[in-house]
Amino acid sequence: MTTTVIIENNNFLFYENELNSIKKKGLFRERKILNKNLIDLASNDYLNISQNKKIFEQTVSELRETGEFSPKASMFVNGYHEIHSRFETNLSYLNSFEKAIVFGSGFLANFGIIEALVRNGDFLCMDSEYHASGVVATKNLKTEQFAFFEHNSAQDLDECLAKKISQKSRKIVAVEGIYSMSGDILNREIFEIANNYNAILIVDEAHSFGVIGENLLGVFDFYNIKPRPNHIKMGTLGKAVGSYGAYILASQHLIEYLENRTKSIIYSTALSIFDTLFAHNSINYIYENREQIKTKSINIKKMFADEVGIKKDGLIFPIEIGDSKRVLEIKKVLESNGFIIGAIRPPTVERAILRIIGRHGISDKDLKNFIYILKGLI
Ligand SMILES: Cc1ncc(COP(=O)(O)O)c(C=O)c1O
Repeated sequence: MTTTVIIENNNFLFYENELNSIKKKGLFRERKILNKNLIDLASNDYLNISQNKKIFEQTVSELRETGEFSPKASMFVNGYHEIHSRFETNLSYLNSFEKAIVFGSGFLANFGIIEALVRNGDFLCMDSEYHASGVVATKNLKTEQFAFFEHNSAQDLDECLAKKISQKSRKIVAVEGIYSMSGDILNREIFEIANNYNAILIVDEAHSFGVIGENLLGVFDFYNIKPRPNHIKMGTLGKAVGSYGAYILASQHLIEYLENRTKSIIYSTALSIFDTLFAHNSINYIYENREQIKTKSINIKKMFADEVGIKKDGLIFPIEIGDSKRVLEIKKVLESNGFIIGAIRPPTVERAILRIIGRHGISDKDLKNFIYILKGLI
């Protein structure tokens, strides 16, 4: 049975002004099911693992063996499964952290931990380009509890941490390994500044895990930084790992605290066990195939550096256009030529950009063709 809600008069168009204003600025968003044949330079599936049949089949077959297919409840009721536990053990071992805990998504992880960690009297310094999932958590804080510091500036972070804080208060810093829109890599000095203040340092590795580092583990690995008890590494499973969900790696002490105070894990059904197992198998695959993966990434980066003049450590290649309507036009032309890219507009970014992802799984010939067409449009 289908039901249709018919709006008979304007009394029910509650948000008409807001929607009209969004449309007028060229910022209206819509969900679309795209043609599967388009060549994907938009998604965060950096390593093309979302289409890896071998990992999928392995996961299905292992899950079938368990006879259980969903987590059923919060991890603190009876939703914590041995699949979660094995995944966490593997992840903490691989990253040299004491403990790990899974989250339903990266959004839930960032929102949840920032809400839990920043208590009365504490002070949070967040990079001005930090992801919306962390920024939204600051809405629940008092103005004297947080500040944004200039993107990637160690000096500004130093000043932020030195600001009006008593010796007793905890200091917390939130940064990303590779920033989701600019594609910038985290400034290494930020690790030192955080250590100087004994600040808790949250590093969101959503776009760096699987992409940078000797073992493709992200920015800690890239800079060869050994995890310390003030470090928290957050990672997502819906990007290079090709699954869904997220995790936090930290000391046993910090994980124990998060287990007891993070509402987004306490009051939420545990991460799907299929997604956890798929992520487990995928991370093992990335680790075992790291040399081949690194070689492919180097080739893609070289092509963008040589042909488009964009040099990046990761696989996000942004091009600032500025005009929100123009980015949509460029995206449309590229789409009619068989390619899909991101057209990112305010408020996600200050000025509109084309967000291009150098994904694996695209042939050199297709990438060259894409770059040729792109150059004619920018
Ligand atoms: C830097 C960053 N952190 C967190 C998230 C949220 O992760 P998830 O998609 O798993 O909710 C994203 C997603 O786009 C992201 O780019």
